[in-house]
Amino acid sequence: MSASGDSQRLASAKDNQKSARLAVGGKDIDLPIYQGSIGPDVIDISHLYQETGCFTFDPGYTSTASCESKITYIDGEEGILLYRGYPIDQLAENGSFLETCYLLLYGELPAKSELEDFEQRVTMHTMVHEQMNRFFTGFRRDAHPMAIMVGVMGALSAFYHDSTDITDPMQREIAAIRMIAKLPTIAAMAYKYSIGQPFVYPRNDLDYASNFLHMCFAVPCDKYESDPVLAAAMDNIFILHADHEQNASTSTVRLAGSSGANPFACISAGIACLWGPAHGGANEAALRMLEEIGTVDRIPEYVKRAKDKDDPFRLMGFGHRVYKNYDPRAKIMQQNCHEVLEAVGADTDPALLVAIELERIALEDDYFVERKLYPNIDFYSGITLRALGFPTSMFTVLFALARTVGWIAQWREMIEDPDQRIGRPRQLYTGPKERPYVPVTERG
Ligand code: SDX
Repeated sequence: MSASGDSQRLASAKDNQKSARLAVGGKDIDLPIYQGSIGPDVIDISHLYQETGCFTFDPGYTSTASCESKITYIDGEEGILLYRGYPIDQLAENGSFLETCYLLLYGELPAKSELEDFEQRVTMHTMVHEQMNRFFTGFRRDAHPMAIMVGVMGALSAFYHDSTDITDPMQREIAAIRMIAKLPTIAAMAYKYSIGQPFVYPRNDLDYASNFLHMCFAVPCDKYESDPVLAAAMDNIFILHADHEQNASTSTVRLAGSSGANPFACISAGIACLWGPAHGGANEAALRMLEEIGTVDRIPEYVKRAKDKDDPFRLMGFGHRVYKNYDPRAKIMQQNCHEVLEAVGADTDPALLVAIELERIALEDDYFVERKLYPNIDFYSGITLRALGFPTSMFTVLFALARTVGWIAQWREMIEDPDQRIGRPRQLYTGPKERPYVPVTERG
């Protein structure tokens, strides 16, 4: 952070300046403490190395605030999630995904006319360049849809040169609208390609979630009407996944963006990071786990494995880096799951029965209680998405589709920060000290 930089940016956080005193190498230094609007205070260590010659050490950043943000707030102890101050359950219950997109991007809930205008702008960008279709044919049919998403999102920077200049606010805006609009089309194309069916064009007369279901499940030879209950559930799932503070994939997008990379390349990096089973890939892994367990009587064997330090098996969809209480999204996801299963007549899905019993057993087991391991958003989402008709390989694609607006909002907040600089963490080096080169003829 530049010396002059922190004044205007953190003025509000510095009103009642407190400081932390650190004694290092016989020298006492005072580190400013800033207070946010809610949540933990932060200790500004940006001058620590300059003043002490030391770095801080925090692998996994469990105690590190990487930025100042006004977008999403999580209280892991209380199980609270706010998008621009609005509780996730109120947004999920009363709003739409495009309303949430507007809120995350611009900071306020839209008036009716603003929402209609935003919906229209998104609708007008749902088609992809026709040549994009040929891009898909380079992939094997059995390619994982996430591999396709990483590639196609990055390739958008090759198709849309007029929105890659990140210094131009207009180009940042058009890139944001394009990605929010085109992600459903690209995700549906990845699905259609994987099952050998023709791509289905977007329709301007359908809402965002209905249009997505139509592009995924319509076929040219039959009439397709998406079920409004399922479309509402899909829209709700997008709201729950839209943003989540500085998680691994969002931090990836911010770090990529800090170098000045174009927005399509940054979002492609976010998709790649989300794919991991410890992160967004957990919804796919959680359902595979429930299917592997198969029946309720086999649950104790898996709970035993999850507790065994010598066994790499973990309960997928359980635990969270931040939530040490119930993930507020998981509660809504569970309710969503029951509604969808009832609507499709699958409320006796064995995976659901295993999930409910596994949750009950785990929440009574000291191992999970002591470690504050609760179901997270991925625990029930897989069952719901399968009931909506998606194959397991598409689950993380749907997560990426929804999270793109959060990544974009966080990326824009960083780009528009006047003090923004390239991210460059340091390290604790424990490798060999300097040593002379030995010619290969003299090596043992
Ligand atoms: C998402 O960050 C975000 O916000 C992410 C996300 C978002 O919206 O962006 O919320 C989406 O990624 C949700 C999380 C999805 N991942 C999974 O469901 C995978 C299964 N969960 C675990 O891999 C794990 O819980 C993590 C990765 C989610 C969190 O890991 P932490 O915080 O590093 O926890 P830890 O590894 O330090 O675990 C603490 C203890 C350990 O035991 P001890 O060494 O203390 O004896 O709990 C144990 C762990 O072994 N533990 C588990 C467990 N998760 C942690 N044991 C069994 N099953 C689990 N799932």
